[in-house]
Amino acid sequence: MEKHYIHPLPVRIWHWVNALGFLTMIATGVQIRYLDLVQLFPFKTAVMVHNWVGLLLIANYFLWLGFYMFSDKITVYLPEMNAAKFFQEFWKQLKYYGHGIFLGEVEPHVATAYHKFNPMQIMTYQIIMLLVVPVLFFSGLLLWDVTQFASIVAMFGGIRMVDTVHVLMFIVCTAFLIMHLYLITLGHTLLAHIKPMLTGYETVNKRRYR
Ligand code: HEM
Repeated sequence: MEKHYIHPLPVRIWHWVNALGFLTMIATGVQIRYLDLVQLFPFKTAVMVHNWVGLLLIANYFLWLGFYMFSDKITVYLPEMNAAKFFQEFWKQLKYYGHGIFLGEVEPHVATAYHKFNPMQIMTYQIIMLLVVPVLFFSGLLLWDVTQFASIVAMFGGIRMVDTVHVLMFIVCTAFLIMHLYLITLGHTLLAHIKPMLTGYETVNKRRYR
């Protein structure tokens, strides 16, 4: 058995605040959007919680961004620059998730401090963290105070357009979350990828890897 320190403290703090915050945002957001169908909380409470937790999540995002911008750990997000090699590794990982795992094959990727993600994770996490989440946050911020941000809202096509983009990003994030929750259970034990997000350390059972 080998231990690798893969999730530094700022990443763990960011991640769990983000996870709890997103669950709260999904619950209150669904309540606000589908008032006729869902009655989990009073409408006013849902709006207030959605606004404040949203602002907290935006601030928290900069903890994640700041950590990676100002530390050498940014390498974990840098993909293999040889496209052929990148897609070879990507395909290997996809085959493992779609087929090999059911045959008891070994995990193709070993997470280490400077190389923690497989190519599928690099691509997905980059799209979520650098595109979907910023657009979700920015559109949410505009909707938070449409009077104050009236000129910016108009520049992006009006409230209806900004609201549509916000709801679309919510759908993408929720779909990501469902996939994410499944994929994090695919370690050599059910909690093998979850425990490191709490302790920082991933235990590698060398016999389980190529
Ligand atoms: C209850 C909800 C969640 C749980 C239990 C959870 C669990 C985990 C676990 C165990 C990892 C480490 C394994 C890995 O790197 O793949 C991880 C990483 C990650 N999760 Fe989540 N997650 C949750 C919600 C979210 C949400 C809502 C987002 C984004 C919108 C998110 C984004 C990420 C990202 C970007 C990483 C990589 C972080 C880094 O090391 O830089 N997670 N998550």
